[in-house]
Amino acid sequence: MVPILFHVEQVRRETADTLTLTLKPAEGGTTLRFTPGQFNMLYRLGLGEVPISISGDPSRPDRLVHTLRAVGTVTKGLASLRPGEAVGVRGPFGAGWPMEAARGKDVVVVAGGIGLAPLRPAIYHLLARRHDYGRVVLLYGARTPGDLLYRRELERWRGRFDVDVLVTVDRGDAGWRGHVGVVTTLFTRAFFDADDCVAMVCGPEVMMRFTVAELKARGIPDDRIYLSMERNMKCALGFCGHCQFGPVFVCKDGPVFRYDRIKAFFGKREI
Ligand SMILES: Cc1cc2nc3c(=O)[nH]c(=O)nc-3n(C[C@H](O)[C@H](O)[C@H](O)COP(=O)(O)OP(=O)(O)OC[C@H]3O[C@@H](n4cnc5c(N)ncnc54)[C@H](O)[C@@H]3O)c2cc1C
Ligand code: FES
Repeated sequence: MVPILFHVEQVRRETADTLTLTLKPAEGGTTLRFTPGQFNMLYRLGLGEVPISISGDPSRPDRLVHTLRAVGTVTKGLASLRPGEAVGVRGPFGAGWPMEAARGKDVVVVAGGIGLAPLRPAIYHLLARRHDYGRVVLLYGARTPGDLLYRRELERWRGRFDVDVLVTVDRGDAGWRGHVGVVTTLFTRAFFDADDCVAMVCGPEVMMRFTVAELKARGIPDDRIYLSMERNMKCALGFCGHCQFGPVFVCKDGPVFRYDRIKAFFGKREI
């Protein structure tokens, strides 16, 4: 599968090291339809290719949106792109969030840091089909107020009567009036029916471990907890083995996994 050429339409800075790129197909190119939780391989010409989740609205495939943190060679190269410049895109890949399995149930979305990016398409989906789901609760934690993504959008969601948005930071600053503590401390203020709910979780693995423990303590069974995993990738097609995670491949079996299917090897560092 060769990359399709896209152009950068907009670059929006989210935090000191994170930005959101909106891409549009090069002339004559086609839009890419995707489901919440899927990712693309973004190719920075001359530097290489990395997996990045799609963070935009699945009902707007004309605007291909990715939020990325500049951590190394390729992500820093992507972060230096300006409107009009070219990017290669392969995808979309992978199995996403269980939007069908969650229909009719309460949905608890738990995000840590940049983990909100792959969950944002699921939130757009839930809000666009609000009557198909029970309560919707978003618990979002970042290290500091300056690390919070999509701040204006979080405020808009918070203003809605049909979704509970709880936000926390590990460390506040002089202007912060909100909750302080790790994301799991928000559970005491979250109301949902543990007997009839689905949880979608994405963030650093340590955050996901503590979140799973909290969800289980609240009575949510393993087969209704879903996690998005990250592993190094190359082919994204299930051929090269780079993304192997125990007996599964993150690129084609994931990145979203039902917890009961991965719990035997989840949290084992060497896998
Ligand atoms: C399915 C999937 C979805 C992903 N979605 C996103 C996304 O939406 N947004 C996003 O920003 N990233 C996402 N990532 C992670 C992203 O692919 C990596 O950050 C990227 O591959 C790093 O490549 P690089 O060439 O920039 O850095 P490299 O040159 O490979 O690494 C440079 C340094 O950064 C460190 N590093 C690498 N990855 C990370 C990381 N994830 N966090 C912190 N340090 C790291 C390395 O250990 C190394 O020290 C996703 C990964 C997967 C597997
Ligand atoms: S990236 Fe090659 S098998 Fe998953």
